[in-house]
Amino acid sequence: MANSLEARIAERALAYVVESPTGADPVIELASPDELQAVFASAVALGFDEAAPAHDDDAIVSAVDSVIEYSVHTSHPRFVNQNFAGADPLAVVGDWLGAALNTTGATFEAAPVFTLMESAVLSKLGRIAGYLDSSAARLPTLPPGLFCPGGSTATLYALQLARHRARPDVRRTGATGERLTLFVSDAGHYAASKSAALLGLGTDAVIKVDSDENGAIVPRALDDAVHASLGAGEVPFAIIGTAGTTVTSSFDDLNALADIANTHGLWLHIDGCYGGSALFSPTHRQLLDGVERSDSFVWNLHKMMGMTQQCTALLVREPALLAPCFALGADYLFQPDKLHAEYDSGDRTFQCARRIDVLKLWLAWKHHGDTGFAARIDHAVEMAEHARQRIAASAGEFEEVAGTFTNVVFGWIPPARRPLSLSPGSIAGLSPEIHAELHTLAPQIKARMQTEGTAMVGFQPINGLNTFRLLFMNPTVAKTDVDALLDLVSGYGRSICEN
Ligand SMILES: Cc1ncc(COP(=O)(O)O)c(C=O)c1O
Repeated sequence: MANSLEARIAERALAYVVESPTGADPVIELASPDELQAVFASAVALGFDEAAPAHDDDAIVSAVDSVIEYSVHTSHPRFVNQNFAGADPLAVVGDWLGAALNTTGATFEAAPVFTLMESAVLSKLGRIAGYLDSSAARLPTLPPGLFCPGGSTATLYALQLARHRARPDVRRTGATGERLTLFVSDAGHYAASKSAALLGLGTDAVIKVDSDENGAIVPRALDDAVHASLGAGEVPFAIIGTAGTTVTSSFDDLNALADIANTHGLWLHIDGCYGGSALFSPTHRQLLDGVERSDSFVWNLHKMMGMTQQCTALLVREPALLAPCFALGADYLFQPDKLHAEYDSGDRTFQCARRIDVLKLWLAWKHHGDTGFAARIDHAVEMAEHARQRIAASAGEFEEVAGTFTNVVFGWIPPARRPLSLSPGSIAGLSPEIHAELHTLAPQIKARMQTEGTAMVGFQPINGLNTFRLLFMNPTVAKTDVDALLDLVSGYGRSICEN
């Protein structure tokens, strides 16, 4: 066993988890697609020939070493590229154990412990979101939601629920000639449009509502948009509010959205994929005030909470709506006359087999407790605040252009262009040459970071100009890392401008 192939790979995986890359370790060992293929060709080729030979253990282990070496080290404190980072080592091992037990969460019969764990965790999440009042003595047979393979999928399920409530026959008859519409801010996630396409509503059914300068929906504009849709003879059926937009981490005013949804009888779905975890923090949970008035709420624990991808809870205020929307009653799987059939969750969702995503979360929550979870959020906001202070004190070298909570969106201004404001009006007034010079800086700086493996920072256009985005998810990020990240941007920027 000790020297088996599995043990040799497991040993590497465990070492990686326990001693994740830090400090001077590279965030990435950048290689082009051709170089990657060449690296693997020396041990075990990435591709398969017509006949795929069996490789010996040493060759496979060597390939595993290359997998580790050339992968992006998302647990490195200078990986602030996306809204996931810094996997909780316990979650990694929990995921592994779940895989080892290889089962499906669809039925109690195949997953007795995990079915109850899901019920326990969903009930606790539901209480935090205000969907449930207090803990029941027994774990419910019908928990307030289900685990889904990711936030986009959960959005699809939520919109299916919303349409089902508005038009229950559509599930059987297919789409009618009506134009059903839904509303989301123009800073909301594209999962809304993708879901509308898959549901046969069409992407035109998604009405994008104006957001303010920081990405929060303008409630007045939402109300106007709903009235306009009604006036055009359409059938509004859902509003998606966002708690933590992807780029600026803005929070819509959920109470204002709930008022509008109530007035018009619309389903209110909250996309808390990113910012839902603010609910863990007594200091920051007020950002989601009003979430308890929504009909559904998606919460990605694989983003801020460091659960391995993926770990997504879709909470549903009235879980009894799930079965009528999704059930087909396959009698070989959901036999009503088997033991404990009332606990089966599989007919309350679209999927048949369902991965065990709850074990890692249950383990981490039991280990860290509520205070540990709150500390993770508070630390992330503290790092963002430190970055904001550094930027504000930079005497015009950096400018923060957007962002709240854990997201800091900023630009770097070359010495020769200072003083320069990155306000929308100022950007609009730039000459095409200066605009092009500034716009191409962020991708060039990022490419240098990747090439040298020093950091990974995201960028995106804001008001038509590429700007950086620091996202603080990882509890091992220290203020010195924040300082180092800004210094790297500055150092690469100067070097690019001097050449
Ligand atoms: C606000 C928001 N909603 C939805 C999603 C989609 O979640 P997933 O990547 O799990 O599909 C994301 C992903 O970044 C997001 O930031």
